[in-house]
Amino acid sequence: MKILDKEFDVYIPAEEIDSIVCHLASEVNRDFKDKNPYFLVMMNGAFMFASDFLRKITIRNKLSFIKYKSYNGMQSSGKVVPEMMIPSDVKDRDVVIIEDIVDTGLTMQAFLEDLKQFQPRSVSIVSFLMKPDSLKCKFPVKYLGKAIENKFVVGYGLDYDDEGRGLGDLYILKEN
Ligand code: IMP
Ligand code: MG
Repeated sequence: MKILDKEFDVYIPAEEIDSIVCHLASEVNRDFKDKNPYFLVMMNGAFMFASDFLRKITIRNKLSFIKYKSYNGMQSSGKVVPEMMIPSDVKDRDVVIIEDIVDTGLTMQAFLEDLKQFQPRSVSIVSFLMKPDSLKCKFPVKYLGKAIENKFVVGYGLDYDDEGRGLGDLYILKEN
């Protein structure tokens, strides 16, 4: 499959994605029962994962959206800037961050640092994917869908220059 100038292969098909998402949701339903968690969805990448994940959440919750920008094309730029405000009513709440992928971790680290000032009661991370070999930071991802190799992926919300986000399978950059 071709997106712009690059070729991609299917890496995680939609059926496998569905079982990963079901598993994550059941863990969160169990651990946050009676806690009324405050979900913060990291836009744009997490939109598809979040919409599938949240449909499987059966406990009471509050939901808002956050946007931090760091990626340009196929590279993390290293500079992370907020593009949406953190809602101030996260104070004293059990915050659960919903993320598509933790790559270098720099975006998440910058966000966690900012979030601290709003004094949530607790902060947990649900991430669909993580690239452990690319990670430059240390924070726990308590609910991880799948650890993947350090290669560029697209689909299921993840983009290559804003293309490919709507694909239902996850694709990986083809070797040449
Ligand atoms: P990080 O700051 O390096 O951890 O990356 C932050 C964001 O970059 C993630 O939340 C994704 O939205 C995006 N990203 C990281 N790796 C990939 C990838 O392989 N494909 C598409 N987007 C990615
Ligand atoms: Mg992104």
